[in-house]
Amino acid sequence: MSSRRGEKCRFANTTAERQTEVDLVRDYYSEQSLFEWWTRHPYRRDMVAKYSPYLAGLESELGRTLTIVEVGSAVGADVTLLAERFPTAKVIGFDLSPEGVLTSARLAAGEFFVSDAERPALVDNCCDVVLIVNVLHHFYRYPDQVLDEINRILRPGGLMFLKDPNAGKINPRLVVNITSRAMRFVHWWTRTLRRPMFDMEIPPASPTERGMRYEEVRDLLGARFDLVDRRFVDGLTHMARWHAFPQWPLRLLDKAIHFVDPRSLVFYSFVCRSRKPRAELSSWWQCDPSQTSSSRSSD
Ligand SMILES: C[S@@+](CC[C@H](N)C(=O)[O-])C[C@H]1O[C@@H](n2cnc3c(N)ncnc32)[C@H](O)[C@@H]1O
Repeated sequence: MSSRRGEKCRFANTTAERQTEVDLVRDYYSEQSLFEWWTRHPYRRDMVAKYSPYLAGLESELGRTLTIVEVGSAVGADVTLLAERFPTAKVIGFDLSPEGVLTSARLAAGEFFVSDAERPALVDNCCDVVLIVNVLHHFYRYPDQVLDEINRILRPGGLMFLKDPNAGKINPRLVVNITSRAMRFVHWWTRTLRRPMFDMEIPPASPTERGMRYEEVRDLLGARFDLVDRRFVDGLTHMARWHAFPQWPLRLLDKAIHFVDPRSLVFYSFVCRSRKPRAELSSWWQCDPSQTSSSRSSD
């Protein structure tokens, strides 16, 4: 598949434009380098470590191993890191990008398939945990559908982990550009010092994304789930910590951006619990998550 990186894309309003957007998304998240970059990035490992106590708690509460589904799993980095910590868990990921799914099938731990998060091919109440990391901003125009689907596949009492960049007042594309340029500079710096964390180029920003504001996401989640934990994670300063890079230039950049808008370049992270009544659950243990939901009347 030819790379269309850097191609300009208007936000889609028509079906044809939406198709262009879908093609760009599929094409963009297809590379092995993303798997290596993301599984080795301590920032990501740190995030998975923060989620793990919740998973361990749920596992001991249920008294059995967990079924974990990642929505928008890309190349499967997060589920691979989770599978390292919970080797007995059943781990499933799906993504719109077939090449991302092929990469994860080859490199990552778990089972992977191509599906659209708006209509995931999974039956109701099929998993204990849903992970949706850096994906919600793909649905900034219609987040309800995706969150309803997650609620549908999650068993009563199940957990959802959601992390995403916050949309500040500063133009999100500008923020993404600043971030990716700053990270390129960090990368150049670490290579020059012959202390590279990663021997690869940092992927540029995808052309089809737009962040959502924390308050909006909080209300959307609160309407469906119990909010167990919510917090902000600083963007640049936090990432620089892991690169043997002096923090002050990025901290200054963070501060300058936060001066204009305290919430730009910040990620929000939510831990949510399904509040579906347990009575709905008749025989979930018989349910095979990889079975498709073709019988669903809503389709
Ligand atoms: C920024 S990446 C994040 C990937 C991964 N969760 C991570 O944090 O490494 C966003 C992912 O969402 C996927 N995606 C976008 N729209 C999607 C959709 N409608 N259904 C499923 N996946 C989608 C993209 O293909 C991409 O892999």
